[in-house]
Amino acid sequence: MAEVKKEFPQGFLWGGAVAANQLEGAYQEDGKGLSTADVSPDGIMYPTSEDPAKLNLYHDGIDFYHRYKEDLALFGELGFKCFRTSIAWTRIFPNGDDAEPNEAGLKFYDDLFDEMRKQGMEPVVTISHYEMPLNLVKKYGGWRSREVIGFYEKFARTVLERYNGKVKYWMTFNEINVVLHAPFTGGGLVFEEGENKLNIMYQAAHHQFVASALAVKASHEINPEAQIGCMIAAMTTYPLTPNPDDVFAALEQERKTLQFSDVQVRGYYPNYMKRYFVENDIEFKVTADDEKVMREHTVDYIGFSYYMSFIATTDEEKLKEATAANLMTGVKNPYLKSSEWGWQIDPKGLRTTLNILSDRYQKPLFIVENGLGAVDKVEEDGSIQDDYRIDYLRAHIEQMREAVADGVDLIGYTTWGPIDLVSASTAELKKRYGFVYVDRDNEGNGTLERTKKKSFAWYQRVIETNGQEL
Ligand code: BG6
Repeated sequence: MAEVKKEFPQGFLWGGAVAANQLEGAYQEDGKGLSTADVSPDGIMYPTSEDPAKLNLYHDGIDFYHRYKEDLALFGELGFKCFRTSIAWTRIFPNGDDAEPNEAGLKFYDDLFDEMRKQGMEPVVTISHYEMPLNLVKKYGGWRSREVIGFYEKFARTVLERYNGKVKYWMTFNEINVVLHAPFTGGGLVFEEGENKLNIMYQAAHHQFVASALAVKASHEINPEAQIGCMIAAMTTYPLTPNPDDVFAALEQERKTLQFSDVQVRGYYPNYMKRYFVENDIEFKVTADDEKVMREHTVDYIGFSYYMSFIATTDEEKLKEATAANLMTGVKNPYLKSSEWGWQIDPKGLRTTLNILSDRYQKPLFIVENGLGAVDKVEEDGSIQDDYRIDYLRAHIEQMREAVADGVDLIGYTTWGPIDLVSASTAELKKRYGFVYVDRDNEGNGTLERTKKKSFAWYQRVIETNGQEL
């Protein structure tokens, strides 16, 4: 038997990923307005609070706003080929509906992208990652309002034009499927008593689909060379048993995620969604113009996050034994170990996910988030021996290499949080993902000093050898 080549393509985009609201801090500096994250001190899954007395770690983040040069120098040392971040909407349009953009905010990202390029990194930019302007929530009801499409389009056009030539890889919305799981963060949605929540969530999703298509249109007009993708939180789902009911339940559960990429990649609602809408009293306005723009402006690539896999079952008893997971709870998989936060670690599931997406869409794929959130211990000599993180990443990269050998067109890999930052689900700093440790704790104490962990040299070598030495 001849041997199959298992290697990453030349020019593979190795790097790391962050989001503005989880690390920049400076939440009221240089004209920035308040965003949904600024009033979510307990993270995206919990009720929001505007109580100024409540500690909100997003407010200061890890002070990346002032320290980005130092941090990018560390990523440069790691050998990053790219760096994924997002643009805080409220730095550019503080209220979302402002007539003119805020020059100070625009200038910050100019400097940031210039610095990335100086360090040899291709910027990969998410236009909106979990932080819409709070004013759009209060005044318009968030994404339930059609008017928000226009505000987003203006924001997207402004940044696409301004950073044309500096940014080649874009994504329209982070984890667009999150609107169904964390509606305030994903869609700026606050419900009234008795409202049909599902209906409102899909209405918001529809507005985001149209907005996303308009951003794709703008990007293609401004620079046909640039690549603009969608971004979903992959939730690959296995049936608990071979019972055909479980198998179909897994298919249906997985479609709750894939419906989002189906629309953005293919440009129309698949019939299984239309049936679901009819059976669940979901009705929202879709105009002929919406349909046209969605169909004509589909994404160039599929970005996705992958942390774990899920299980579906129709067995009520089993459903009661649910485990914690990113954005939703799920049935425990007896074959997998869990992280300290209950996320079930499944490297092989990443190969499966890559193959499913590749077979389904035949488009380039980009893993824009993956990693292990863990508690790190600082040893007496100041070192951090995070072998568990190395093990997690190694196992996932091995499976990526297999998927590439399967024929998947994978263009890059950015690990989540290459430097410790504030968690999205729980808004804490104790849950760390970085190769670089940041001295700051859940109470907001610490010097913010940066220290390299053991995984730093390991990932550096992975990049240096283009994923051959793991
Ligand atoms: C993804 C988000 O869902 O998971 C990130 O896009 C988030 O914003 C990441 O930080 C990890 O989740 P958490 O809750 O551990 O921060």
